[in-house]
Amino acid sequence: MKPTFQCNDLRAEHIGSEVIVAGWVQRRRDHGGLIFIDLRDSSGIVQIVFNPEINPDAHKIAHQVRNEYVLAVKGKVSRRPEGTENPNLPTGEIEIPADEIEILNTSETPPFVIDDSADEVAEEIRLKYRYLDIRRPRMQNNLRLRHKVYMATRKYLDEQGFIEVETPVLTKSTPEGARDFLVPSRLIPGTFFAMPQSPQLFKQLLMISGIGKYFQIVKCYRDEDLRADRQLEFTQIDIEMSFIDEEDIFKLTEGLMHSIFKNSLGIDIPIPFPRMTYEESMRRYGCDKPDVRFGMELIDVSDIVKDSDFKVFVSTVAGGGQVKGIVAPGLAKASRKEIDDLTDYVKTFGAKGLVSMKVLDDDIESPVKKFFSQAHIQKLIERTSAKVGDLMLFVADKPDVVAESLNRLRLKLGNELGLMDDKRFEFLWIIDFPLFHYNEEEKRLDSEHHPFTGVHPEDMHLLDTDPLKVRSRSYDLVLNGNEIASGSIRIHNMELQEKIFNILQLTPKDIEDRFGFFLEALKFGAPPHGGIAPGLDRLVAIMVGSKSIRDVIAFPKTQSGTCLVTGAPSAVSDKQLKELYIKTTVGE
Ligand code: AMO
Ligand code: AMP
Repeated sequence: MKPTFQCNDLRAEHIGSEVIVAGWVQRRRDHGGLIFIDLRDSSGIVQIVFNPEINPDAHKIAHQVRNEYVLAVKGKVSRRPEGTENPNLPTGEIEIPADEIEILNTSETPPFVIDDSADEVAEEIRLKYRYLDIRRPRMQNNLRLRHKVYMATRKYLDEQGFIEVETPVLTKSTPEGARDFLVPSRLIPGTFFAMPQSPQLFKQLLMISGIGKYFQIVKCYRDEDLRADRQLEFTQIDIEMSFIDEEDIFKLTEGLMHSIFKNSLGIDIPIPFPRMTYEESMRRYGCDKPDVRFGMELIDVSDIVKDSDFKVFVSTVAGGGQVKGIVAPGLAKASRKEIDDLTDYVKTFGAKGLVSMKVLDDDIESPVKKFFSQAHIQKLIERTSAKVGDLMLFVADKPDVVAESLNRLRLKLGNELGLMDDKRFEFLWIIDFPLFHYNEEEKRLDSEHHPFTGVHPEDMHLLDTDPLKVRSRSYDLVLNGNEIASGSIRIHNMELQEKIFNILQLTPKDIEDRFGFFLEALKFGAPPHGGIAPGLDRLVAIMVGSKSIRDVIAFPKTQSGTCLVTGAPSAVSDKQLKELYIKTTVGE
């Protein structure tokens, strides 16, 4: 028997039609004589009824059936008896009294029940039995939405004149700054391919090739420490265009996001997206990917507290540091223990302490109140716009410590106060990033992004005199506090590229070994070009309201970098190693 309908497609209008459905047994209930089976396929669930008086043979077979058995069932759709409808199921008005049943396969008892309750099951179990986990409606929906995102992406970019070009997976180290995954070459002993951290240099080569508008939905490989929003292999919507500037990339990406949300969630997101400079973002939120779904911005009060009697604040400001605060709405009711916990929390990000001030009807309550005059307190309340019932929280330190600790505190409180509505989608461009940062360890400048990032035309003159002040032509797209895309207008001119390499103190040999092929290509009429790469996993995770990108990847790696389904990575035979001229030093 082959299915004529998907389970979830059956409705009252099908009453009286003979249908065949096939799927897995979600649940079997014996009700005296009657047996009910909830049959599930990828679309949803329909109820099958077996009546011993009408069809004793089918009833006998149904009796042997257990959860996750695979069945095909034939019967005439009928209306459920009055009072037994299930308004929670789209098929809840109808059922199928079985005329025929075929057990297509049996199943062992699964390690967890295949429904949303498995969200509570330990993730290791879900990942080990991922093929069962994916049977669940939530995972099915996630993968279906992901598919819609691919489709919307390909359609939109095709309509805009882009072509998808594949670039190699066995290649040379790419400059994204993570560790490479290496693959030994058997044919040329002692040499290695690197798997691409992104197709960055290939897409730039394709611009030199005159492709003009390139995209690729592409796997990238980065050997880095895993987090909820990071995997060893992940997917980018990689894009590059010639003869364009930032505005073209913004417009294209906004159109792409609009099309993705429209076609996969049916949501019209407002475009264009707002823009904020890196400097403003750091000042107002203490980070370069602010979650702008809620306020609680960082407010500088250094000028107010610098002449108070509170030594920590006074000496911090005098020493070139800052005092900044955030206001937690309604948290004046927090207990001492709760405030101590917040203090411990900011300390994990390097803060030395946390000053709290509860705003009461006509006064404040604070462990350090005695060090502040009434005028100081009044100014603090005015500056922060704190209301009666709010809690003001301050950190004094070097700017980077203040930024990091208050950013983390803001996010923690925003989450706990329920200010992060995951049905809202707030996009934001961050622009004018610095081109370099100082690498303390190696005592030299490093690229903030990668060394091919263009230089802000207004800052060109600072390259020699004050390189840390130079802004780049890169941009990030932030969604609900997550960096979901990153890109830049590239350098297409050899002299400038060489100058940047000099500033980065790369030796000519380094440059030749790592990027020689690319520099040579730049000499053959490279057009002005630039691009962007949205991280598809992060985007889809946010769209489905998931905290982890693992939920939108069919077979992800665990936090410790293993695949629990296959057991990879695993040891290989001595013969294989020998062929590759490889010896491991493990255990030596
Ligand atoms: P970048 O390294 O910023 O830029 O990556 C672009 C986007 O890819 C996503 N992303 C990741 N997603 C999951 N796991 C990871 N380990 C991971 N790393 C990055 C993020 C990020 O914004 N070649 C440049 C792009 C360009 O300049 O055009 C690049 O790869 O969402
Ligand atoms: P102490 O004088 O160390 O007992 O600190 C008094 C209060 O100030 C405590 O609530 C500390 O958490 C807080 N505090 C100490 N150092 C800082 C700082 N650098 N920034 C903010 N609060 C601080």
